Amino acid sequence: MSIHTEVKRVTTQVLLDMKTVGEKISMLTAYDYSMAKIIDASGVDIILVGDSASNVMAGHETTLPITLDQMIYHASSVIRAVKRSFVVVDLPFGSYQGDSKIALRSTVRIMKEAGAHGVKLEGGREVGDSIKRILTAGVPVMGHLGLTPQSIYKFGTYTVRAKEDAEADKLISDCKFLEEIGCFSIVLEKIPAALAARAAAELTIPVIGIGAGNGVDGQVLVTHDLLGITKEFKPRFLRRYEDLYDKMEVAFRNYIKDVQSGDFPNENEQY
Ligand code: KIV
Repeated sequence: MSIHTEVKRVTTQVLLDMKTVGEKISMLTAYDYSMAKIIDASGVDIILVGDSASNVMAGHETTLPITLDQMIYHASSVIRAVKRSFVVVDLPFGSYQGDSKIALRSTVRIMKEAGAHGVKLEGGREVGDSIKRILTAGVPVMGHLGLTPQSIYKFGTYTVRAKEDAEADKLISDCKFLEEIGCFSIVLEKIPAALAARAAAELTIPVIGIGAGNGVDGQVLVTHDLLGITKEFKPRFLRRYEDLYDKMEVAFRNYIKDVQSGDFPNENEQY
């Protein structure tokens, strides 16, 4: 029996235990009740209410426009569906940088109004004060380093990060800092696999990768990418488990055909 199959409710301790015994952690995004219900029932360990909702749900080009109120709406919908998974909610851009009191206030709203289990935020030392203050309130914090989409205008591209030694050293140093101040886990996005594996080996907290190779403690993907609903997004790291865009389009076309021909509804589909 594995920890994954045994636990009724995933906690930060469960995730730590999984890392300790070498059991990989699965994490997926959800932004609404119906999707979260299926993901939770399938046994995914962590559900992330990601600020990628800004792209996937709202059609924005970046994650920057999504607001705290919108994140709380998505998170509360997800929380109502979940029985087993640990639910982490992204602190949106502008809700935690620069002022640790604002960071705590945003976090308290997410915990109280949505019922989240923890929060995730992007950055290392530069957001250390915010993380420390959130931790004083007893809220689990997940870090996020490497490609940090909220800083897209600083970097200008979504290419692989930390390929050069200086950036790689800073990433390892930031990972250690986040562990030391009390983060329960870190997401590493789009960095060389060897660097991510080194981070995972040097840390005791679980490292979850996206585009960071197989040497980490778990993987995260955006659910709509995994299902093939977001058809145009094709990074090398993405494995599509379905082609739902095409399948859904066929279903919608069949529905239109049946409506137009008068085949739907038939005698059994009416009162
Ligand atoms: O917002 C999000 O979906 C994320 C994942 C890509 C890790 O932060």
